Amino acid sequence: MENFILHIFLIVFLSGVFLLGSGEKNSSSEGTAKEERKPVLLEDVPGTAAFIDGAEVAVIGFFQDSEKNEVSEFLTMVENMPDVPFGICTNSQVLSHYNITRNTISLFRMVDNKRQDLEIEDSNKIDIAKLSRFVRMNELRWVTEYNPMTAVGLFNSAVQTHLLLFSDKTSPLHTERINKYREAAVAFQGKVLFILVDISVKDNDRVLSYFHLTKSQLPALAAYYTADEEQDVLPLDEVSLDRIKDFCNAFLERKEGKKNPKPEDKLFREEL
Ligand SMILES: *[C@@H]1O[C@H](CO)[C@@H](O)[C@H](O)[C@H]1NC(C)=O
Ligand SMILES: *[C@@H]1O[C@H](CO)[C@@H](O)[C@H](O)[C@H]1NC(C)=O
Repeated sequence: MENFILHIFLIVFLSGVFLLGSGEKNSSSEGTAKEERKPVLLEDVPGTAAFIDGAEVAVIGFFQDSEKNEVSEFLTMVENMPDVPFGICTNSQVLSHYNITRNTISLFRMVDNKRQDLEIEDSNKIDIAKLSRFVRMNELRWVTEYNPMTAVGLFNSAVQTHLLLFSDKTSPLHTERINKYREAAVAFQGKVLFILVDISVKDNDRVLSYFHLTKSQLPALAAYYTADEEQDVLPLDEVSLDRIKDFCNAFLERKEGKKNPKPEDKLFREEL
């Protein structure tokens, strides 16, 4: 039996996801000046709310006790992940506003309006690899690129309808496709997670074959419902906003129809 979730977990284990986090250690090589990157210091509730609202994904270290090991690990992670906005907060009013009861790393994301917490129970068990893994798994964006890390986060989201765009990142048309796709993603906030599958990545062939697509049919869209694995595909010659929206709406309506499978009943009642 082919099963997408099984697939995902297989891929996760094959890729040794539990080791990947440590790969972050040397990714900050692009800067010119060797200035240390620091988290934004958050000192009041409005400033913290603005920081969260200002990014697709924002990560805040809420620390009641700043002497603990996790604080220095957190600061190292901030230096090594230049693509993620980080804040740090020790202000007791802000901590209580966000219901913090122990040192916690919180990730806030827009795409499904979700806050994901990593509460630190045992400081000795926390290292940069664990912290990085928490961020990499949960950093779902308007358009999330599919990989073994994000696959876990995608399946943990309460949003069960996923849309996949199969596109080759090295194609000259890719940027325009992604711009359209992203625009559609914003319109489906909280209803559909938009995923990019880069078909120039060899490992992603498995995802392609799961949807019974061949490379000659690409680019293509695939809709997927995690609860029952229902799927639908649409090969495209051109990625347009209307086609994305129509395809998504049709799939959503189909799923909604199955959840409330008796439209006749409603009609009947209205006639009474
Ligand atoms: C990080 O990169 C630098 C320069 O590219 C290299 O000298 C250093 O050994 C690397 N450190 C680790 C931990 O891989
Ligand atoms: C804190 O918890 C209360 C009670 O559960 C909840 O109503 C409130 O929204 C929470 N605050 C935040 C910022 O999540």
